Amino acid sequence: MPGYPSSLTKLVILLGEPLGHSLSPAIHNAMFAHLGLDYLYLPVEVAREDLAVVFNGLRRMNVAGCNVTIPHKVAILELLDELHPQAAALGAVNTIRFADGRAIGYNTDGEGFLRSLAEGGIASVAGQEILLLGAGGAVRAIAMSLAFAGAAAIHICNRSGDKAERLAAEINAKIRPCAATVAAEGGALRQVVARCQLLVNGTSVGMHPHGQALPIAAEFLAPHLTVADIVYNPHTTRLLAAAMERGCRVVHGLGMLLHQGALGFALWTGIEPPLAPMRAAAEEALAAREGRG
Ligand code: ATR
Repeated sequence: MPGYPSSLTKLVILLGEPLGHSLSPAIHNAMFAHLGLDYLYLPVEVAREDLAVVFNGLRRMNVAGCNVTIPHKVAILELLDELHPQAAALGAVNTIRFADGRAIGYNTDGEGFLRSLAEGGIASVAGQEILLLGAGGAVRAIAMSLAFAGAAAIHICNRSGDKAERLAAEINAKIRPCAATVAAEGGALRQVVARCQLLVNGTSVGMHPHGQALPIAAEFLAPHLTVADIVYNPHTTRLLAAAMERGCRVVHGLGMLLHQGALGFALWTGIEPPLAPMRAAAEEALAAREGRG
């Protein structure tokens, strides 16, 4: 394999706008080099109105697949030939594999989250009560995967309560009647936390540069809880630090990013990437970005 791309190089294209802050190119290109694979991961910023023309052009090129991010995760659906059931249930695609001229859409966010939980010691969420903070796109994927995986109860708490209501109703109708909402203010939240085994922050609260913010009062955290954060910058958020101080088990946000990426990598190459060098590449890319920003 040459040290530079050739006409034989397989491409993986990241479609979104803007893409300046994505860690995925650094992670995947490091893994292609690590494994000696003649692949190139290329971020391509595409405006909404150009998505169809660009995507249909990719079909004629040596492209193994794509990642899709904001704002195209939903718009891409109508351009695909086939959808994996989890992507169909979610109505959003973050990973595409081209096979025999067909474009197949997947969503690896939820499965990536479940794998990061497994790595953090929760091999199964079956029968568990779970509190989810937030109701955006990331929480939707996580909530649906938790419902598919047999969670006993999923409590959704969001600043905008109507979004939480809509998400709970959708899960109950599409998957299983296991979701309910809980108000962000008032005593009910404390009672729910006491019953849950797992608490997940799926909001952007605590993300750099607002690293001092907490998505839930630290006094609610107790040792019976595992606390997972989807925020990965900073690596240990204030929430995770407070959880550790209070004796909780914690699951870092970088794990979800890593595992959803590993799932995509396997779809494009047929190879399960080793996680240790992939994690090192992610941490290095994050550190470089923090240095810049
Ligand atoms: P993503 O697709 O990455 O999940 P998103 O759809 O913008 O991003 O969702 C961000 C989540 O963080 C939402 O649940 C948002 O709450 P709202 O639905 O009320 O907007 C939540 N969030 C963002 N900033 C917040 C803040 N300061 N306090 C509480 N929740 C916040």
